[in-house]
Amino acid sequence: MRTLIPATAAVGAAAIGYAALIERNWFALRRFEVPVLPPGTGPLRVLHISDAHLTPGRKRLMSWLRSLDDLNPDLVVNTGDSISHPQSLPCFLDALGPLLDRPGVFVLGSNDLYAPEPRNPTRYLAGPSSRRKIRKGPDLPWEKLCEDLTTAGWLDLDNQRGRLCAGGLDIALAGVHDSHIKRDRYDQVAGQADPAADLRIGVMHSPEPRLLDQFAADGYDLLLAGHTHGGQLCLPFFGALVTNCGIDRKRVRGLHRHPLDGQAWLHVSGGLGTSPWAPARFACRPEASLLTLVPRGPG
Ligand SMILES: [Fe+2]
Repeated sequence: MRTLIPATAAVGAAAIGYAALIERNWFALRRFEVPVLPPGTGPLRVLHISDAHLTPGRKRLMSWLRSLDDLNPDLVVNTGDSISHPQSLPCFLDALGPLLDRPGVFVLGSNDLYAPEPRNPTRYLAGPSSRRKIRKGPDLPWEKLCEDLTTAGWLDLDNQRGRLCAGGLDIALAGVHDSHIKRDRYDQVAGQADPAADLRIGVMHSPEPRLLDQFAADGYDLLLAGHTHGGQLCLPFFGALVTNCGIDRKRVRGLHRHPLDGQAWLHVSGGLGTSPWAPARFACRPEASLLTLVPRGPG
């Protein structure tokens, strides 16, 4: 016992150090091919970023995010939780850099509105989080964030529909604000997605099944979400312990069908960052995804 306790403490300290200092800055680019386009069109490269939770000191994250422009994406989709500090906005815009010159769309996450608060990390494992104390109002510059992104030409899809041309394709989009703070208003975008468009994309921060069901029922081909952080603290060979929302553990990140036997494709980003109050990732590297959209197969 005398040697077991110090040895266990040493392993625990090493794991925490690895998760906070190494894996949190060990960015991964995930690549997926998604067969959602009409025959004879594409490919279309979609860069999906999410959950940067940027604070001004995260130079490596900013540098990596900026480097993603080298992928030459046709469209950038940001599914929210971009900032985590009142002074983060200029850093985030600077990190996006040349990506802002490309066609882009975004929705907000709760952390774009409310600065993170210290909390007991074990509560994360207890189930989906909620803002038990609703503060008087948002304390982060979310309106300026929206203004700056839309001024750059990106579409704000918070409870809105949108339309754009990217990679020579006509794309119909709809999105909702963050369901996590009950700001989603699907009724404002409800209705059949335009079947005449080349592609229909539904965008949300949190992949709540009721929203995914609605987007899929309205004919959206590709559903994009973030929020889960891929589980953030995962167990090797087991995966995420929790998803922090209603999605099942197996779809905590990556590309899957929705419904599981349905036609729409769902991509959940494991996210680029972490809350500054939980600055660690384990067996769940921070990530962005390049989705290469290609024509559907026969049938
Ligand atoms: Fe997040």
